[in-house]
Amino acid sequence: NDTALIDRFGRHVHYLRLSVTDRCDFRCVYCMSEQMKFLPREQVLSLEEMLTLAQLFVELGVRKIRLTGGEPLVRRNILWLIERLGELPVELVLTTNGSQLQRFAQPLRRAGVSRLNISLDTLNPERFRGLTRSDRLQQVLAGIDAACEAGFDRIKLNTVVLHGRNEDEVPALVEFARARGLDISFIEEMPLGQISEHDRAEAFCSSDTLRERLEQRYTLMPTAERTGGPSRYYRMADSNSRIGFISPHSHNFCADCNRVRLTAEGRLLLCLGNEHSLDLRALLRDPECSSEQLRQAVIDAMQLKPERHHFDLDDEPQILRFMNMTGG
Ligand code: GTP
Ligand code: 5AD
Ligand code: SF4
Repeated sequence: NDTALIDRFGRHVHYLRLSVTDRCDFRCVYCMSEQMKFLPREQVLSLEEMLTLAQLFVELGVRKIRLTGGEPLVRRNILWLIERLGELPVELVLTTNGSQLQRFAQPLRRAGVSRLNISLDTLNPERFRGLTRSDRLQQVLAGIDAACEAGFDRIKLNTVVLHGRNEDEVPALVEFARARGLDISFIEEMPLGQISEHDRAEAFCSSDTLRERLEQRYTLMPTAERTGGPSRYYRMADSNSRIGFISPHSHNFCADCNRVRLTAEGRLLLCLGNEHSLDLRALLRDPECSSEQLRQAVIDAMQLKPERHHFDLDDEPQILRFMNMTGG
């Protein structure tokens, strides 16, 4: 069998999203509150514990590990973990805000990271400050350049599109991606945690609206090519870049979910939009729990995986956990 991780709906889990820290050097408005409280260090898994769990998931059938955060590259000694994960028989990929890439792009590539997803919501410094509550756009752009130089198999930009904040920049961001041969995904914002900066229903921008607008400029051809995540891609005739749409609200993609998440505190989270979880940190730190019991607990946890999320932008957020706990 290809994986021991199969849920009640027959979905096969091959993809682990590993959040290595809840901390971040940015405070994106859709991800965190401004006065964010982070986990005390003793509650966070050590890198050794993360490696042990990652190895277990690979033995059970995981074929792709995505490192997330917070911002994964602010975790101390993160390269130690990445170099070890790079030796496992998995596709190793990473999602980053780009702020540390001038320093990290080449070491990541050498450690075996094959693809990078880099967040970029705007090219305008003023807006960047508003969206990320930081003023390091130039650093991010230089980071993207460094990543382009480092020879990754593929780099994708991620843009969370918000009406009234960056919606009008979608064509410029497509041009930015095309000029560098990068993919770009436009993301519908998801309601995780209570935020104050905007009303999520008012900021909603549907993927179909964006696509129709882009079709006035480019001929977009749907492609079945997938990267193992929820992005649905279109190709343009005159470019290697792909335009992707991640549409949790307008085109639910839960039916072919193939992933679970491990939070920095060692919680195995079975769905981004639900709280069903298993406390792997407790099991891992319990001297009475054998590795066989740990293994069986992970297999059994698949029975807890919910069918889908029920995000509702018009209601108060049902999930109070902020996005930085799972890195999306
Ligand atoms: P690849 O397909 O490997 O490129 O990754 P990806 O696009 O799935 O990962 P990335 O970390 O770049 O996430 C992009 C967006 O997709 C983020 O907003 C995530 O929260 C969202 N996302 C990824 N997986 C899921 C999921 O299972 N459910 C929901 N609702 N959103 C997801
Ligand atoms: N809704 C959708 N995407 C989000 N991200 C962070 N918060 C949200 C949210 N509330 C995105 C980031 C990053 C990816 C991991 O998740 O922009 O690209
Ligand atoms: Fe940091 Fe990413 Fe959250 Fe922005 S979206 S605050 S970059 S973890």
